[in-house]
Amino acid sequence: MASSVQTHTHVPPVAKVQNLIDQVPCLGLIGNTPMVRVDGWADSHPGVEIWAKVEYFNPGGSVKDRPVLRMLAEAIADGRLTRDKTIIDSSSGNAGIAYAVIGRALGYKVEIVIPDNASVERIKRLKAHGATVTHTSAQDGYDEAIRHVRRLVAADPDKYFYCDQYSNDGNWQAHYDSTAEEIWLQTAGEISHFVYGVGTGGVLTGVGRKLKKLKPEVQIELLIPEAFPGVEGLKPLRDPEDHIPEILDQRLGDRDWDVDVDLAWEASQVLAASGLFAGQSSGANVWTAVQVARKLAEAGEGGLIVTVLCDTGERYFSTRLWDA
Ligand SMILES: Cc1ncc(COP(=O)(O)O)c(C=O)c1O
Repeated sequence: MASSVQTHTHVPPVAKVQNLIDQVPCLGLIGNTPMVRVDGWADSHPGVEIWAKVEYFNPGGSVKDRPVLRMLAEAIADGRLTRDKTIIDSSSGNAGIAYAVIGRALGYKVEIVIPDNASVERIKRLKAHGATVTHTSAQDGYDEAIRHVRRLVAADPDKYFYCDQYSNDGNWQAHYDSTAEEIWLQTAGEISHFVYGVGTGGVLTGVGRKLKKLKPEVQIELLIPEAFPGVEGLKPLRDPEDHIPEILDQRLGDRDWDVDVDLAWEASQVLAASGLFAGQSSGANVWTAVQVARKLAEAGEGGLIVTVLCDTGERYFSTRLWDA
């Protein structure tokens, strides 16, 4: 592609989401994010380009704004979310922030259950938007946060609207209708590979399904981080104890890639040196994209690989990510 940044996509939101944007104009800032070429490793993969969708440009600073807007819009439209209810869900932080930003702007109370190793930046951002934060033990992982939400909702079902991003179809559909559509337009249909991991499975399922529909030969490269120390936002799917999200369509992945967390962090640092300030999972995505690109280049094949910068690097100041 000719230019290094493409910003002019303007994919219109689906009708239910548009209704909310009409009420709260700042929600119109969600989506239509730019795409940038990632050049940090270009010498090692001649003939193959890597592009990244800059999801940290969303108002909540992450890839979760689109699905949260869609899930809340649908719940309001069909009467599951009414004025008297508190929005509740578990989150590694970014979905929680999206619920807090969007839910609060729409006038709802928001309660987030989060493992207690979530970075202080995330907790402070949640509180800045007035959300109530409940902690679960980090040792018990995200799955305990999910179980705890279910206990709270079971104890007081009338109080809550449980959005349940792991089983809510609006999650993947948001990426099917917007993220994938934008990627398709921004690459002029030339995309050959999409690289991503799994948190809730929303991006992988939504983007993967749409791209396979538009161009069946697009390869979906699924990355899986090691369980310890892990990558914020991504599930270590090889762990047999790990909960598999209901919305994840595991058949979409053409290939799996193991991710060493130290290398993912290093990739975030290389990105930062090129002016792209993104978090751990973005580093894991880009590091994997570079492995895919090198393999293609070694085989003498070209390609246009797309991945995602999931959240802002500012969310990790209190972690060791930027210590090197
Ligand atoms: C930083 C980060 N990376 C990746 C993901 C994974 O995206 P998805 O939930 O669509 O699988 C998330 C979401 O949970 C996230 O917050």
